[in-house]
Amino acid sequence: MQSSPPSHASRLADLVARAPKAELHVHIEGTLQPELAFEIGRRNRIALPWESPEALRQAYAFTDLQSFLDIYYTVASVLCTEEDFHDVAWAYLQGARDDNVVRAEIFFDPQTHLVRGVPFEAVIGGLSRAICRAERELGISAALIMCFLRHLSEREALETLERAAPYRGQLLGVGLDSGERGNPPEKFRDLFARCRRLGLHSVAHAGEEGPPEFITAALDALGAERIDHGIRCLEDRGLVARLVRERIPLTVCPLSNVRLRVFETLADHCLPRLLAAGLRVSLHSDDPAFFGGAINEVHRQSIMALPLSESDAHRLLRNGLESAFWEPTAAAPHLERLDALFGF
Ligand code: HPA
Ligand code: ZN
Repeated sequence: MQSSPPSHASRLADLVARAPKAELHVHIEGTLQPELAFEIGRRNRIALPWESPEALRQAYAFTDLQSFLDIYYTVASVLCTEEDFHDVAWAYLQGARDDNVVRAEIFFDPQTHLVRGVPFEAVIGGLSRAICRAERELGISAALIMCFLRHLSEREALETLERAAPYRGQLLGVGLDSGERGNPPEKFRDLFARCRRLGLHSVAHAGEEGPPEFITAALDALGAERIDHGIRCLEDRGLVARLVRERIPLTVCPLSNVRLRVFETLADHCLPRLLAAGLRVSLHSDDPAFFGGAINEVHRQSIMALPLSESDAHRLLRNGLESAFWEPTAAAPHLERLDALFGF
């Protein structure tokens, strides 16, 4: 039997898979695959409340952001030693290389670990070691963004910043994650002012489940340079105009949005509207071990489900490379390669 030729969408997805890309929205704890979580749990004698990796996967039927976060924090509780943090980051970075990621700006949640008595040094030491190794052995440029948990207080975040002070040189920037509901960006105004004075880049999750006002507040109260998710900006035309005018990057994660029920199916995702509005959107994986795919899979499924042209796909990739916090000279060769691949 003759197989039918690949569709235009599937050829475009293949092209995108080969293209250089920047991963700007990935939580390292969210890259922890069930098998590795169980292995690390065994060596630390920490029992997860599921029988097996398969049983854990079965539990990944989320109803909203909070239902995901409850499981995500439980799985992360196996991470204790420098070696654990190295191993999870190294596993992620090897997969990222296979997806042709050339730049990874990786979120981590120190508060999740500090509260369990894990030393800051183990967290940042293990992650930094994997990053240095990836630069050397995989040719990936990678850096760390320390996220604060917005369901906790600003005082607790400030204490975390104090504990991070000796490792300032290993941080690219700071971010804000966890449950948006009831936790507006304004809560962390002083914290972010202090981080900016330290010369750290700032990003914030906003407008994922929270209202468009949270996006405005992330820009005005926190000075966020990029917005993570930001999809609900479409509810406010004035805000869309501002985001376009100020060229604020939105790191959009379609598979995450579907798994967390922001959209019923991928075909319902607002990505085409974000692109049509001229917003600076790029696509990312968020928590790939939980949401069904790393960055290439995110692009592939989006291309298969949504009306995205070759020029849309090229724009998404270019936006990602241009929105990374790296020197324009570092981005330039990758942008050239991207343009050449797409015949521009
Ligand atoms: N949103 C908020 N916090 C998070 C997420 C997310 O998608 N993933 C990990 N922490
Ligand atoms: Zn996220």
